[in-house]
Amino acid sequence: MSEHDPDDFPSNSSDDPGFANIVAERLTRPTLLNGLPASTALGLLFGRAAPSRAAGFEEIAHGMGESHHLAAGHHAQVLIRWGDKVLPDAPPFDPSKLTAAAQSKQWGYNNDFLAFLPLPRGSNASDRGLLFANHEFTNAELMWPGIASNAEKLEKLTEEQAAVEQAAHGLSIVEIRREADAWRVVEDSGLNRRFTAATPFRIAGPAAGHPRMRTSGDPSGTEVRGTLNNCAGGLTPWGTVLSGEENINFYFGGDPKKSAEARNLARLGFTDKPRQPWFRFGDRWNVEKEPHEPNRFGWVVEIDPYDPASVPVKHTALGRIKHEGATCAISSDGRVAVYTGDDQRFEYVYKFVTRDRFDATNREANRDLLDHGTLFVARFEADGTCKWLPLVHGTGPLTAANGFNDQGDVLIETRRAADLLGATKMDRPEDIEPDPRTGRVYVVLTNNSQRKPEQVDAANPRAGNKWGQILELIPPDNDHAALEFTWNIFMLAGNPADPAQGARYTGEGSPESWLSSPDNLAFDPKGRLWVVTDGQGDSHGIADSAYAVDMEGAARGMPRLFFNAPRGAEVCGPCFTPDGSTLFLAVQHPGAENGSTFETPSTRWPDFREGVPPRPSVLAITRRDGGHVA
Ligand code: FEO
Ligand code: CA
Ligand code: CA
Ligand code: CA
Repeated sequence: MSEHDPDDFPSNSSDDPGFANIVAERLTRPTLLNGLPASTALGLLFGRAAPSRAAGFEEIAHGMGESHHLAAGHHAQVLIRWGDKVLPDAPPFDPSKLTAAAQSKQWGYNNDFLAFLPLPRGSNASDRGLLFANHEFTNAELMWPGIASNAEKLEKLTEEQAAVEQAAHGLSIVEIRREADAWRVVEDSGLNRRFTAATPFRIAGPAAGHPRMRTSGDPSGTEVRGTLNNCAGGLTPWGTVLSGEENINFYFGGDPKKSAEARNLARLGFTDKPRQPWFRFGDRWNVEKEPHEPNRFGWVVEIDPYDPASVPVKHTALGRIKHEGATCAISSDGRVAVYTGDDQRFEYVYKFVTRDRFDATNREANRDLLDHGTLFVARFEADGTCKWLPLVHGTGPLTAANGFNDQGDVLIETRRAADLLGATKMDRPEDIEPDPRTGRVYVVLTNNSQRKPEQVDAANPRAGNKWGQILELIPPDNDHAALEFTWNIFMLAGNPADPAQGARYTGEGSPESWLSSPDNLAFDPKGRLWVVTDGQGDSHGIADSAYAVDMEGAARGMPRLFFNAPRGAEVCGPCFTPDGSTLFLAVQHPGAENGSTFETPSTRWPDFREGVPPRPSVLAITRRDGGHVA
């Protein structure tokens, strides 16, 4: 629903680069669909049998309920919830008395991306590790009594409540261990950390120190307090975590039209109606008073969870957009590519390629790898190629004549630079995941109901697209640095039982083998692609879910339903232990539905205790008989 789907509006008014004439050729031309000859692929389309066990589990049915549901033979343990202890001196959670001091030591709100990092570092341990989480945003109506809408929040939220919400944002790291078949948080671990909207981050890369990065609080433009709206992310080959700052426009008040950065702010969707009233309590959240502060958000951040003294970094070389996440692949020549989507309607898909090679023998040597390299934006051609267009100052239109005086300007206004290059406007790019076995890259486009018939193109082939699609990109010879890839449509999401939706899957499935509004992706150790959703309630009246998708064999490309979230929640952060024995899922904003409030939530998952609101939580899912999940 729009109240909870903040990306549900466009702010790209750049000229359409002329793709209206490209129709759904990539689907209908008689060559490839999912890399199979069209005759084979079409033969498998809509092949639907009884609920299938081909993926190693019996599918559940779509539905909607106050609790979660998962496939038979599995157990879901609530591992950690909003308000649970992260730092050793954190007080117990008390929903009737939230304080910023407590929240800054407790698990944040709306856990999103998750990563499991084995301990000790370099091992393949599956019973001891660090759990890393993004805390994307807050749901005031479920945190506080007496606030039923965002309008009420803007008016009523107190300074202390705003400070609680700031502390509920950011990132968390906890050490976890599996003992006697249950996971537990190691509450006194020296590796446990919280990062909030106040934690100092070092700014690195070409925009560090740039005049447009300087504020009254940081005249050097090299250090910023806080990270915000951290959505998805990924692991680097050297064992650090990347996290994407997404909807940064939520947090700033004032009239962007009156800011010195008006054009820049408009392109990122800033309006004079923020979602947070923080500007009432501090000038740095006011775009009229501190016009450069927003330039210090919207980056990819890097954290080293193995070093509790490490200072987190914002890497400006990867561009400033609404980063869904950032995921790495090592290219054939040893350089690293980082894929990142810009999650808003009609925005773009990007990749960054490092200048230098990854050094597997010297972890320290990779510390600044992400500060030197080239950022590219994608143009999807109807002939099945994908062109990567470099965002480099001084090349093409990226010159002073267009307001770009240096590479810092190009990066601070990445979207506007990409507009000028003629990138393809996509149906809301979310997670991007390279397949570690094949090197193929999967790009989620979650939905875009505003795409008009005259705006369809090969990669975004449906008007009024409420269901989303997943693209498959193929780098030549595993060369992720290549300037040209080929691509296919891997999945056109939606329910095939309703032909009007135009859904297409390959593989053999059951009546439950479909999904809508895909969001995050992960590969499991068996090589299957896991897809979790955000929006099935709006489009189909069913809970959001987690699906396993075989990547080979007769069921290749068919989503199999494994898990349903409690009502109001989206499913985020799928990740596995190295042996596949545990699947961690983040249940985000349970109970977030129209009319659902702190006083009368639509669910009290997972505690189900009177007076305790629903709590975003991480589930640790294991198989009852041991072995690989699903
Ligand atoms: Fe934060 Fe794009 O979901
Ligand atoms: Ca999401
Ligand atoms: Ca992912
Ligand atoms: Ca989403």
